[in-house]
Amino acid sequence: MDLRIPLFDLDYGPEEEAAVMAVLRSRWLTMGAVTQEFEKEFAAMFGVKFAFGVSNGTHALHLACLALEIGPGDEVILPSLTFVATANAVLYTGAEVRFAEIIGPADLTISPEDVEKRITSNTKAILVMHYGGYPCRMPEILQIARDHNLTVIEDAAHAPGAALEGRSLGAWGEAGCFSFFSNKNLATGEGGMVVTDRDEVAEKIRFLRSHGMTTLTLDRHKGHAYTYDVVALGNNYRIDEIHSALGLVQLRKLRANNARRRTLTELYRMGLRQPGFEGIEVPFSLTTGQSSCHIFSILLPLDANRQVFMEAMRSQGIQTSIHYPPIHTFSYYRQRYPGLSLPVTEIVAAREVTLPLYPKMLDGDVELVLSAVKDALAAARVRLAY
Ligand SMILES: Cc1ncc(COP(=O)(O)O)c(C=O)c1O
Repeated sequence: MDLRIPLFDLDYGPEEEAAVMAVLRSRWLTMGAVTQEFEKEFAAMFGVKFAFGVSNGTHALHLACLALEIGPGDEVILPSLTFVATANAVLYTGAEVRFAEIIGPADLTISPEDVEKRITSNTKAILVMHYGGYPCRMPEILQIARDHNLTVIEDAAHAPGAALEGRSLGAWGEAGCFSFFSNKNLATGEGGMVVTDRDEVAEKIRFLRSHGMTTLTLDRHKGHAYTYDVVALGNNYRIDEIHSALGLVQLRKLRANNARRRTLTELYRMGLRQPGFEGIEVPFSLTTGQSSCHIFSILLPLDANRQVFMEAMRSQGIQTSIHYPPIHTFSYYRQRYPGLSLPVTEIVAAREVTLPLYPKMLDGDVELVLSAVKDALAAARVRLAY
């Protein structure tokens, strides 16, 4: 059946097309002037000293971990309720992950209290994820990090343009990592950004992004350099000019698009307070700070069957999703960390359903989704009773 309302949709128009055409006509395809401009504007908008465009959000996380010298023997504490890339990026370095609980149904971000309990003599860093673009408890996390001499990395894949106490998410820790995957608030298909305020971390990211080389092709092309040295085991995590051009246009739309997401989120929240939705919980209703409203999550009542609910939504042409199956429940991670149980995360994750949200959505679309939710909820509860 055709979808009436997809989970997400791009806000792409003639501006994106023109930006890509300009790159093609320039005949310079990777890590050039457009990337530099994108990085400069990104850093300025997010209030950070350095921003490095990279090939995707996973590589942004991996680079951040490498630049902060996370490696074999180290442990990094992170939530299990995140996309698997958050944990994978740590494992690539040879370090181990230690999964921490989320706060609870009202706040799906990492629990500072639980983080503190999981610190050992091997803990090197805390890697937080701003779920849905809602801020983690950063003042508490930074305090724990200071008390135990730990590094803080932010997975801000959901959170471009979000802030807490006036400070951008991604700019709180030693490094912040963004993804520009197709479904993100700033979408380029593939792409990402890693930001930092620290000169020595920036220097390492610069080398490690491009094979550990001391000069770039662009520098040599411009005659700023004639050769290069390799000073570290780097990688090719570069972004190309086409993705940077898309990113620059999307960055300029970000504020308005996030504002529209906030309005739609508010409409959802108001609608769900009406009769017919009893038992549904809406996380982050009390969270402070400015969210980028990346996704809209609801938690189904405990007596509702999620699969039946999602199928009923689909039969009405509305796409839903799950964010996320907790990482520690995946086969690979179960084998690597056997016997691990995170009851708060597991119970909340089993109830989570993500409803459609994207800037081009109409107010009337929210009404359609909510009316489908009402029917699907009734179906999901009735079937369970048999
Ligand atoms: C929370 C989170 N972290 C990391 C990533 C990885 O980003 P990418 O898909 O750009 O590698 C994503 C995106 O899918 C994500 O949602």
